[in-house]
Amino acid sequence: MKKQFALASLLALSSASAYAADDLAKYKDESRAVIGPFVQKLIAENKKAVMEGGPESAIKVCKDIAPAMAGEVSRMNGLRLTRVSLKVRNPLLGTADAWEQKKLMEFEKRAAKGEKTDAMEAAEIVKEPNGKYFRYMKAIALQPGCVACHGKPADINENVKARLAEDYPHDQATGYEAGQIRGAVSIKRPL
Ligand code: HEC
Repeated sequence: MKKQFALASLLALSSASAYAADDLAKYKDESRAVIGPFVQKLIAENKKAVMEGGPESAIKVCKDIAPAMAGEVSRMNGLRLTRVSLKVRNPLLGTADAWEQKKLMEFEKRAAKGEKTDAMEAAEIVKEPNGKYFRYMKAIALQPGCVACHGKPADINENVKARLAEDYPHDQATGYEAGQIRGAVSIKRPL
Protein backbone atom coordinates (compact mmCIF):
# COMPACT_ATOMS: atom_id res chain seq x y z
CA MET A 1 0.00 0.00 0.00
CA LYS A 2 2.70 2.36 1.10
CA LYS A 3 4.81 1.40 -1.89
CA GLN A 4 1.92 2.02 -4.27
CA PHE A 5 1.38 5.44 -2.83
CA ALA A 6 5.05 6.25 -3.21
CA LEU A 7 4.95 5.17 -6.85
CA ALA A 8 1.81 7.20 -7.52
CA SER A 9 3.31 10.32 -6.04
CA LEU A 10 6.54 9.74 -7.92
CA LEU A 11 4.59 9.53 -11.17
CA ALA A 12 2.66 12.68 -10.32
CA LEU A 13 5.91 14.43 -9.57
CA SER A 14 7.62 13.41 -12.79
CA SER A 15 4.65 14.40 -14.90
CA ALA A 16 4.52 17.74 -13.12
CA SER A 17 8.14 18.43 -13.98
CA ALA A 18 7.63 17.30 -17.59
CA TYR A 19 4.78 19.76 -17.71
CA ALA A 20 7.01 22.53 -16.36
CA ALA A 21 9.68 21.72 -18.97
CA ASP A 22 7.05 22.05 -21.73
CA ASP A 23 5.93 25.37 -20.30
CA LEU A 24 9.51 26.60 -20.08
CA ALA A 25 10.11 25.73 -23.75
CA LYS A 26 6.87 27.47 -24.72
CA TYR A 27 7.66 30.63 -22.72
CA LYS A 28 11.15 30.66 -24.20
CA ASP A 29 9.80 30.50 -27.75
CA GLU A 30 7.35 33.28 -26.97
CA SER A 31 10.12 35.45 -25.51
CA ARG A 32 12.34 34.91 -28.54
CA ALA A 33 9.44 35.94 -30.76
CA VAL A 34 9.10 39.20 -28.80
CA ILE A 35 12.81 40.00 -28.49
CA GLY A 36 13.87 39.16 -32.08
CA PRO A 37 11.91 41.96 -33.79
CA PHE A 38 12.69 44.37 -30.92
CA VAL A 39 16.46 43.98 -31.36
CA GLN A 40 16.26 44.02 -35.17
CA LYS A 41 14.25 47.23 -35.13
CA LEU A 42 16.75 48.87 -32.78
CA ILE A 43 19.72 47.95 -34.95
CA ALA A 44 17.88 49.27 -38.01
CA GLU A 45 16.92 52.53 -36.26
CA ASN A 46 20.52 52.96 -35.15
CA LYS A 47 21.88 52.50 -38.69
CA LYS A 48 19.26 54.87 -40.09
CA ALA A 49 20.04 57.59 -37.54
CA VAL A 50 23.82 57.31 -38.06
CA MET A 51 23.34 57.55 -41.83
CA GLU A 52 21.04 60.53 -41.55
CA GLY A 53 22.81 62.60 -38.94
CA GLY A 54 25.95 60.86 -37.71
CA PRO A 55 26.53 59.22 -34.33
CA GLU A 56 25.22 62.21 -32.39
CA SER A 57 21.78 61.87 -33.89
CA ALA A 58 21.76 58.15 -32.98
CA ILE A 59 21.73 59.06 -29.29
CA LYS A 60 17.95 59.28 -29.50
CA VAL A 61 17.76 55.62 -30.55
CA CYS A 62 19.29 54.35 -27.32
CA LYS A 63 17.85 57.15 -25.23
CA ASP A 64 14.27 57.59 -26.46
CA ILE A 65 13.32 55.00 -29.08
CA ALA A 66 14.59 51.91 -27.22
CA PRO A 67 12.87 52.66 -23.87
CA ALA A 68 9.67 53.70 -25.66
CA MET A 69 9.64 50.50 -27.71
CA ALA A 70 10.39 48.43 -24.60
CA GLY A 71 7.46 50.08 -22.83
CA GLU A 72 5.09 49.41 -25.68
CA VAL A 73 6.15 45.78 -26.14
CA SER A 74 5.76 45.30 -22.37
CA ARG A 75 2.22 46.68 -22.31
CA MET A 76 1.10 44.77 -25.38
CA ASN A 77 2.41 41.44 -24.08
CA GLY A 78 1.62 41.67 -20.37
CA LEU A 79 5.21 41.44 -19.25
CA ARG A 80 8.19 43.63 -18.47
CA LEU A 81 10.84 43.95 -21.16
CA THR A 82 13.95 45.99 -20.34
CA ARG A 83 17.55 46.41 -21.42
CA VAL A 84 19.96 45.78 -18.58
CA SER A 85 23.71 45.79 -18.13
CA LEU A 86 26.44 45.28 -15.53
CA LYS A 87 27.95 48.63 -16.61
CA VAL A 88 25.13 51.08 -17.16
CA ARG A 89 24.87 54.45 -18.78
CA ASN A 90 21.40 55.11 -17.33
CA PRO A 91 21.14 53.47 -13.89
CA LEU A 92 17.43 54.25 -13.66
CA LEU A 93 16.45 52.05 -16.61
CA GLY A 94 19.44 49.79 -17.09
CA THR A 95 20.34 48.46 -13.65
CA ALA A 96 20.12 44.67 -13.50
CA ASP A 97 18.29 43.04 -10.58
CA ALA A 98 19.79 40.10 -8.64
CA TRP A 99 18.65 37.41 -11.12
CA GLU A 100 19.81 39.49 -14.09
CA GLN A 101 23.20 40.19 -12.51
CA LYS A 102 23.76 36.50 -11.85
CA LYS A 103 22.87 35.55 -15.42
CA LEU A 104 24.94 38.39 -16.92
CA MET A 105 27.95 37.18 -14.95
CA GLU A 106 27.33 33.66 -16.24
CA PHE A 107 27.11 35.10 -19.78
CA GLU A 108 30.57 36.66 -19.28
CA LYS A 109 31.97 33.29 -18.17
CA ARG A 110 30.34 31.52 -21.11
CA ALA A 111 31.80 34.13 -23.50
CA ALA A 112 35.26 33.68 -21.94
CA LYS A 113 34.97 29.95 -22.77
CA GLY A 114 34.33 30.82 -26.41
CA GLU A 115 30.54 30.71 -26.69
CA LYS A 116 29.16 33.12 -29.30
CA THR A 117 27.63 36.14 -27.60
CA ASP A 118 24.86 36.85 -30.08
CA ALA A 119 23.01 33.58 -29.42
CA MET A 120 23.43 33.52 -25.65
CA GLU A 121 20.29 33.21 -23.54
CA ALA A 122 19.04 32.13 -20.11
CA ALA A 123 15.57 31.09 -18.96
CA GLU A 124 14.09 30.07 -15.63
CA ILE A 125 10.81 29.96 -13.72
CA VAL A 126 11.35 31.63 -10.35
CA LYS A 127 9.22 32.01 -7.24
CA GLU A 128 9.14 35.37 -5.52
CA PRO A 129 7.21 36.41 -2.41
CA ASN A 130 4.45 37.88 -4.60
CA GLY A 131 4.17 35.09 -7.15
CA LYS A 132 5.73 33.03 -9.90
CA TYR A 133 7.58 34.57 -12.85
CA PHE A 134 9.14 33.40 -16.05
CA ARG A 135 12.52 35.08 -16.43
CA TYR A 136 14.37 35.26 -19.72
CA MET A 137 17.46 37.10 -20.95
CA LYS A 138 19.15 37.33 -24.29
CA ALA A 139 22.63 38.82 -24.52
CA ILE A 140 23.14 41.99 -26.56
CA ALA A 141 26.38 41.64 -28.48
CA LEU A 142 28.04 44.95 -29.29
CA GLN A 143 27.85 45.70 -33.03
CA PRO A 144 30.65 47.62 -34.79
CA GLY A 145 28.38 50.71 -35.00
CA CYS A 146 27.86 50.80 -31.22
CA VAL A 147 31.47 51.73 -30.44
CA ALA A 148 30.70 55.31 -31.54
CA CYS A 149 29.07 55.69 -28.11
CA HIS A 150 30.06 52.60 -26.09
CA GLY A 151 33.61 52.05 -27.34
CA LYS A 152 37.04 53.16 -26.18
CA PRO A 153 37.83 56.91 -25.94
CA ALA A 154 39.45 56.88 -29.41
CA ASP A 155 36.23 55.48 -30.97
CA ILE A 156 34.00 58.27 -29.61
CA ASN A 157 34.05 61.67 -31.31
CA GLU A 158 34.36 64.87 -29.29
CA ASN A 159 30.76 66.01 -29.84
CA VAL A 160 29.36 62.70 -28.64
CA LYS A 161 31.76 62.68 -25.69
CA ALA A 162 30.53 66.13 -24.68
CA ARG A 163 26.86 65.14 -25.01
CA LEU A 164 27.39 61.97 -23.00
CA ALA A 165 29.37 63.78 -20.30
CA GLU A 166 26.58 66.31 -19.93
CA ASP A 167 23.66 63.85 -19.89
CA TYR A 168 25.32 60.96 -18.05
CA PRO A 169 27.94 62.16 -15.57
CA HIS A 170 28.08 58.65 -14.06
CA ASP A 171 28.36 56.81 -17.39
CA GLN A 172 29.94 53.36 -17.05
CA ALA A 173 28.94 52.08 -20.49
CA THR A 174 32.14 52.73 -22.45
CA GLY A 175 35.28 50.77 -23.26
CA TYR A 176 33.51 48.00 -25.18
CA GLU A 177 34.72 46.25 -28.34
CA ALA A 178 32.51 44.74 -31.05
CA GLY A 179 31.36 41.24 -30.09
CA GLN A 180 31.50 41.86 -26.34
CA ILE A 181 28.38 41.61 -24.22
CA ARG A 182 26.94 45.11 -23.81
CA GLY A 183 24.09 43.77 -21.68
CA ALA A 184 20.90 41.86 -22.28
CA VAL A 185 17.28 42.22 -23.16
CA SER A 186 15.39 40.89 -20.18
CA ILE A 187 11.82 39.65 -19.91
CA LYS A 188 9.98 39.16 -16.65
CA ARG A 189 6.56 37.65 -17.12
CA PRO A 190 4.06 36.99 -14.35
CA LEU A 191 2.65 33.42 -14.46
C1 HEC B 1 24.83 57.67 -30.57
C2 HEC B 1 25.19 57.07 -29.35
C3 HEC B 1 24.84 55.63 -29.10
C4 HEC B 1 25.03 54.57 -29.97
C5 HEC B 1 25.58 54.56 -31.38
C6 HEC B 1 24.61 53.41 -29.22
N1 HEC B 1 24.18 53.74 -27.96
FE1 HEC B 1 23.51 52.51 -26.51
N2 HEC B 1 23.19 54.05 -25.29
C7 HEC B 1 23.36 55.38 -25.62
C8 HEC B 1 22.77 56.21 -24.60
C9 HEC B 1 22.73 57.72 -24.60
C10 HEC B 1 22.22 55.33 -23.63
C11 HEC B 1 21.48 55.69 -22.36
C12 HEC B 1 19.98 55.61 -22.64
C13 HEC B 1 19.10 56.06 -21.52
O1 HEC B 1 19.18 57.24 -21.14
O2 HEC B 1 18.31 55.23 -21.04
C14 HEC B 1 22.49 53.98 -24.10
C15 HEC B 1 22.08 52.85 -23.43
C16 HEC B 1 22.21 51.58 -23.91
C17 HEC B 1 21.75 50.40 -23.23
C18 HEC B 1 20.96 50.34 -21.93
C19 HEC B 1 21.80 50.08 -20.73
C20 HEC B 1 22.57 51.30 -20.25
O3 HEC B 1 23.80 51.26 -20.34
O4 HEC B 1 21.96 52.28 -19.81
C21 HEC B 1 22.08 49.34 -24.02
C22 HEC B 1 21.83 47.89 -23.75
C23 HEC B 1 22.74 49.88 -25.20
N3 HEC B 1 22.81 51.23 -25.11
C24 HEC B 1 23.20 49.10 -26.24
C25 HEC B 1 23.65 49.63 -27.44
C26 HEC B 1 23.95 48.82 -28.62
C27 HEC B 1 23.88 47.31 -28.66
C28 HEC B 1 24.32 49.67 -29.61
C29 HEC B 1 24.66 49.35 -31.05
C30 HEC B 1 23.63 48.64 -31.79
C31 HEC B 1 24.27 51.01 -29.05
N4 HEC B 1 23.86 50.94 -27.75
C32 HEC B 1 24.61 52.14 -29.77
C33 HEC B 1 24.00 55.86 -26.74
C34 HEC B 1 24.32 55.11 -27.85
